[in-house]
Amino acid sequence: MSLSIGIHDLSLATGEFVLPHTALAAHNGTDIGKYHVGIGQESMSVTAADEDIVTLAATAAAPLIARHGTDRIRTLVLATESSIDQAKAAGIYVHSLIGLPSATRVVELKQACYGATAALQFAVGLVRRDPAQQVLVIASDVSRYDLDSPGEATQGAAAVAMLVGVDPALVRIEDPSGLYTADVMDFWRPNYRDTALVDGQESVGAYLQAVEGTWKDYTEQGGRTLEEFAAFCYHQPFTKMAYKAHRHLLNYCGLDTDPDTVTAALGQTTAYNRVIGNSYTASVYLALAALLDQADDLTGKSVGFLSYGSGSVAEFFAGTVVAGYSNHLRTDAHHEAITRRTEVDYAAYRALHEHRLPADGGDHATPAQTTGPYRLAGISGHKRLYTTR
Ligand code: CAA
Repeated sequence: MSLSIGIHDLSLATGEFVLPHTALAAHNGTDIGKYHVGIGQESMSVTAADEDIVTLAATAAAPLIARHGTDRIRTLVLATESSIDQAKAAGIYVHSLIGLPSATRVVELKQACYGATAALQFAVGLVRRDPAQQVLVIASDVSRYDLDSPGEATQGAAAVAMLVGVDPALVRIEDPSGLYTADVMDFWRPNYRDTALVDGQESVGAYLQAVEGTWKDYTEQGGRTLEEFAAFCYHQPFTKMAYKAHRHLLNYCGLDTDPDTVTAALGQTTAYNRVIGNSYTASVYLALAALLDQADDLTGKSVGFLSYGSGSVAEFFAGTVVAGYSNHLRTDAHHEAITRRTEVDYAAYRALHEHRLPADGGDHATPAQTTGPYRLAGISGHKRLYTTR
């Protein structure tokens, strides 16, 4: 009998602050309907000056360690596209902050927003090789576009930590996967830039092309039919994108795109992304968290995942929700992570956006702003200094 491997536990974290889209719209004179309806976003998480992908990742992962301990974890994979170092894996700081043993393999993965799905699939492979082991997969990103650019409305920040192992309590990950890679320049961030570059309309087209490509391969690999899925978790750079993608898939399959059917398949997956914004690698797993936290009962139901990373790589795969999953959810903690954020006005957001760590090699403390469990206390001799709060 084949092993049941998948997501045993899942926890999310997001930034200290939140900027409502009404504030952005008032600043740039945009009709709020474009944000609320046109792209389907209400607000976006903004990180404090003493938060980054490491503090978000550690905050997301710590509850998993508190519940399950560290005994079985021998690998930590952190996926990000807002990396803080070209050489050292951000996961090593996380390893230290959450107290993982030295007998751990730690590595960072990158392929735009797709990276965490690669990490999840690699984790499944590692567990299949040694079912006694668990893999800690973390997706952590701070999405940043230029101020006053079209992408500005689609920023955000979050981390999702997932414990992957045998006999998962939440979602069993199934074979096969549908895969698609195409060399396109829809979104990228050269090493010398802090903000992403994007060709917005091209990126939407590239995403839709990838939806077709992954689905074609998924069916050729003998996957389920579209009708077998109870819900679909799409990568959501903005929540309207999930609707565009699903309608595109239904059209491609010659199926009806009745709005009620589309909403039934997606509606609950967009709740967290709508108020957090784009969290790149974490986005598709925030969709899963929102679905599990809100749906009545998904026991035994199949969920389709469409992970897209610009550049581009995409993967479609299925997960089956496990009996008893609702006893293992962190719904209250997830709501708390979202509702505890402090609202900032446009000027404060802009100052945070423009904040950079000094690059002169000196000793610099960061302003104490976060109320989360971990903080980036400063930088000294080009070394980031992290503390628990
Ligand atoms: N009321 C209601 N709707 C309105 C409106 C109003 N007053 N005004 C405009 N709209 C609608 C438009 O009709 C449009 O709807 P459709 O897409 O259904 O046609 C929607 O609002 C957006 O309007 P525009 O296309 O004119 O907006 P824009 O030029 O400002 O660009 C964007 C939107 C391309 C998404 C831009 O925000 C952007 O570049 N974002 C970053 C890139 C991105 O997220 N790409 C997604 C695919 S790539 C990916 O997924 C990877 C990743 O994470 C980056």
